[in-house]
Amino acid sequence: MINSVKTAIARSHLKSIPYNEFISLALYDSLEGYYNQKRDVFGKKGDFFTASHVHSVFCELLGEWFLKLFNELHLPHVILELGGGDGRFAKQLCEFFSNKGMKITYYFVEGNEIHRKNIKEQITNHTLETFSSLHDFEENIGHFNGIIYSNEFFDAQPVKVVEKNNGELFEVYVSMDDDGRLIERFYPCSREMVDWIRKYGIVLSEGHRMEVPNYLNSILEQIATVLHKGIILTIDYGYTNEELVDPRRKKGSLRGYLDHQMVDRVTDHVGKMDITHHIHWDSFIKIGLEHDLDLYMFEKQQQFLLQIGILDYVRENKSGTYFSTASKQNRAIQQLISGDFMGNMFEVCIQAKGIRKSQLEIFMKK
Ligand SMILES: C[S@@+](CC[C@H](N)C(=O)[O-])C[C@H]1O[C@@H](n2cnc3c(N)ncnc32)[C@H](O)[C@@H]1O
Repeated sequence: MINSVKTAIARSHLKSIPYNEFISLALYDSLEGYYNQKRDVFGKKGDFFTASHVHSVFCELLGEWFLKLFNELHLPHVILELGGGDGRFAKQLCEFFSNKGMKITYYFVEGNEIHRKNIKEQITNHTLETFSSLHDFEENIGHFNGIIYSNEFFDAQPVKVVEKNNGELFEVYVSMDDDGRLIERFYPCSREMVDWIRKYGIVLSEGHRMEVPNYLNSILEQIATVLHKGIILTIDYGYTNEELVDPRRKKGSLRGYLDHQMVDRVTDHVGKMDITHHIHWDSFIKIGLEHDLDLYMFEKQQQFLLQIGILDYVRENKSGTYFSTASKQNRAIQQLISGDFMGNMFEVCIQAKGIRKSQLEIFMKK
């Protein structure tokens, strides 16, 4: 258990803190938070794989797609990445553009200071600027035209949790028992929270728990403020209102990831384990529209990657061995599009600002 959580609980007048505050400390406390640890949390040695850690083919494919967007939509070669993590995607993408003999501007938003420092040292032949938050970006850069990209950024946001019991909505808080173990407590939901849930068409059945992503209002507003004209490509896992009612989702989607294992109780291994939730896509899309972010596409990752041509990257495995470069790339493609792995688990949401829908359609047709 980390001290910042203990202190926050002890200082709060209810002797319990809402889940978003707990997650914020567990993941982002500057001294003890999971994402501020010195050890690697990404990839084989860490706790989870993200798409750019599967294989560079993911980035090459997106690089080609970004290039088409730049050219056909007359966008400046500017990319803003949200929650860039250890910078693997940024490095691969900059290398892709270097190989094309092009220079780009890359804005890298990431809370972890070490990752920001490393990426700054590693990317020298493009214009790379780093920011600790979107707010930091807004203050220093303001507006731009280009592409906003994120992969697994939204699922890592601190989120509130509600549950319906005896016909009423309760907000779930984190507290501590006499033996110092973290436990949950329930308080009636605020009027504001009940209105938010209703506004975005969410109907919970008895005993159903859900993460309420009201952080989306401020983040999507900021995105809409900083982007004048361009595309927002968001890749993450989530569910729609229709999927929410599935009884299998009754316990909510908050999960921990530690050493590539899923952990149900997110109050275990505090500060040592990743905590994530599924994105509620209906509210994501609706809030985007409230801020003039037009929805262009919402699809499974599998569909999107197939549409932009991932199968063109399948290579002939001439040596026939399992460990050949071609074989590794082909396996990675399978992981990225397979229904059992990332292909069906992740969704891709493409929003546009200041761009006509008809202008975008050409990019999805091979
Ligand atoms: C699940 S990781 C994904 C990393 C990377 N996008 C990838 O695909 O490998 C989420 C990252 O977002 C960062 N992050 C989350 N919320 C943030 C925020 N509000 N501002 C800056 N960085 C944030 C975390 O520090 C973490 O590195």
